[in-house]
Amino acid sequence: MLVQYYTTYDEKRRLKKDNAHLVEYRTTLHYLQKYIMNLSRGSTLLDSCAGCGVYAFPLAEMGFEVTAVDLMQKHVDIIKTSNKSSLLKNVYQGNVLDMSRFAENSFDVVLCFGALYHLQISTEREKCIQECLRVLKGGGLIFFAYINRNAIFINHFKHSPVDIKELDELLLTGRNGVFYGMDFEEPDMLAGKLKIDKIANIAIDGLSYPLADQINILDEEQFETYMKYHLATCEQKALLGHSMHGLWIGRKTNGKSLPNETYP
Ligand SMILES: C[S@@+](CC[C@H](N)C(=O)[O-])C[C@H]1O[C@@H](n2cnc3c(N)ncnc32)[C@H](O)[C@@H]1O
Repeated sequence: MLVQYYTTYDEKRRLKKDNAHLVEYRTTLHYLQKYIMNLSRGSTLLDSCAGCGVYAFPLAEMGFEVTAVDLMQKHVDIIKTSNKSSLLKNVYQGNVLDMSRFAENSFDVVLCFGALYHLQISTEREKCIQECLRVLKGGGLIFFAYINRNAIFINHFKHSPVDIKELDELLLTGRNGVFYGMDFEEPDMLAGKLKIDKIANIAIDGLSYPLADQINILDEEQFETYMKYHLATCEQKALLGHSMHGLWIGRKTNGKSLPNETYP
């Protein structure tokens, strides 16, 4: 089902197709730069759900040694045939749930911007973060993105209010087609279980889904003003459950072995 979804979906254009989507892209890059710019150039970075390379390429251009992985062969092919592909150290098709091709403690930074949008079983969400932590060096930085349950509800209701009954399952379980929406407290619980030091939890696109029509009519200068408002507010807890995407940033606690307990 997931393969079918991405086979027909144009992921390559997603983040740059309009202002409302650019908010997610610009804000994610802003926080990546904020937390990794002080690492030495040549630090190793794994983009574990790299899509079509939307972050892998700019990070490689900044001087990081980037390895890109994605589940979808279609996306891997897009990365490999890009005229920037030689900037990347390696590109693989693979699943974040099994990154056995990488030894433990291999990377200074691990990004996981995609798998948690779709993992509908709690033990798999935990396994996803555990794998990212396994390949991350002690003291290294982990960035994972997730989708908020409330935001999926609001977005569906906005576009199709008469189908509200169809949202029952989402509200009860977080499942919505191929997507999984987290309760806004789940990332902290998940990270707490796995003993990652929290740095930040960001409402990465804030109100850009409910306000998309308004944001999309802004000219360049007006959009820059909107971005200033957004960047000034996206760390506010009040916005977390409203933002379609959340970005959780943390640090692996000093290379100690990870606990074996499972998420209830
Ligand atoms: C919405 S796209 C995001 C792409 C890009 N990282 C971004 O943030 O724009 C989600 C990506 O995650 C990939 N993905 C989903 N589940 C995955 C998994 N278990 N392992 C690796 N990649 C996965 C999908 O193939 C897709 O390319």
